[in-house]
Amino acid sequence: MVSTFDIKINKIAKSRVSEYDVNNVPFGKCFSDHMFVAEYADGKWQKAYIEPYADVPMSYATSALHYGQAIFEGMKAYKNANNEVSLFRPLENFNRLNKSALRMAMPEVPEEIFIGGLIELLKLDEAWVPTSDTGSLYIRPFIIATDEAIGVKSSDTYKFIIITCPAGKYYSEPIRVLVETNYFRAVHGGVGFVKAAGNYGRSLYPTKLAQQKGYQQVIWTDSKTHQYVEESGTMNLMFVIGDTLLTPELSDTILSGITRKSVLALAHEWGMKVEERKISIREVITAHGNGTLQEAFGVGTAATIAQIITIGYEGKDYDLPAVETRKFSNRVDETLRNIRKGKGPDTQNWMLKVS
Ligand SMILES: Cc1ncc(COP(=O)(O)O)c(C=O)c1O
Repeated sequence: MVSTFDIKINKIAKSRVSEYDVNNVPFGKCFSDHMFVAEYADGKWQKAYIEPYADVPMSYATSALHYGQAIFEGMKAYKNANNEVSLFRPLENFNRLNKSALRMAMPEVPEEIFIGGLIELLKLDEAWVPTSDTGSLYIRPFIIATDEAIGVKSSDTYKFIIITCPAGKYYSEPIRVLVETNYFRAVHGGVGFVKAAGNYGRSLYPTKLAQQKGYQQVIWTDSKTHQYVEESGTMNLMFVIGDTLLTPELSDTILSGITRKSVLALAHEWGMKVEERKISIREVITAHGNGTLQEAFGVGTAATIAQIITIGYEGKDYDLPAVETRKFSNRVDETLRNIRKGKGPDTQNWMLKVS
């Protein structure tokens, strides 16, 4: 196993950070000074290094490009008022990446490489972590199959890479979502419960159709009956109906979100009634009709809480209560922000300090 001491570091000659206002850059387009890379060959992780972020030469025959052996994670680092950098629940991402690796017949990454490499990278690129209230450094760890070979088989070589980019708030406006009853995101026995690249590619066309109808995202339903809601876009889905927080129970068609897990933990801590179970779209529409549907929102690393203002279903729009009236999701949003920014008590020990 590679320990953190084996990471070779090649530092950039001059940081590019002063060329940007990291609190104010478009999301996902401006990358920090360095990247972490580990290489897998001959049945083991061989070497790990950090080098300046740059394009790399790659063969067009690289197997990840053809057969989709590509998995990734999404996580964030935050800066507190003392300029200290912390990660939110990084072991959860580490474990989930390895779950994805197993399902996609790819090698798991040891903790020394994932967490060790990430910490070294963040130490070098601390200046890229935004200081603004809603700012964070988005972290993209991923593994790709790197065999230069045409032919469907699992690759013999892989790269585990981490790149990072500053992020402001992802969705600032409440979103309109369309319940998708034709296409589906995931199927039993498939790969919906892991972060495989192909899950995202397949979602783009239905999302584009929904956007042409004036919605920002879709609500995915189960592939067999299209009666039960599963996720919204790339977020887990939650409702407050009456005095109960409801979310679809985990299955092999739903990604086990770290934000979902954290929101549920806070709800339990606050003594809220919580139900993780199958939720039919009919139940949601009925609750809307009798006035008990108080809140609907997506939860995920990108947005934390994405408020849903309208649900479109079978040609009809159902408008939800104003965002300001939503007690639970607003409280969760603020609590998570405070924990991450070191402004509120981290009662569940979620933050891992880097600097
Ligand atoms: C399909 C899908 N569901 C849910 C989530 C939310 O997961 P997390 O809270 O870990 O970001 C994500 C984002 O990673 C996702 O891609």
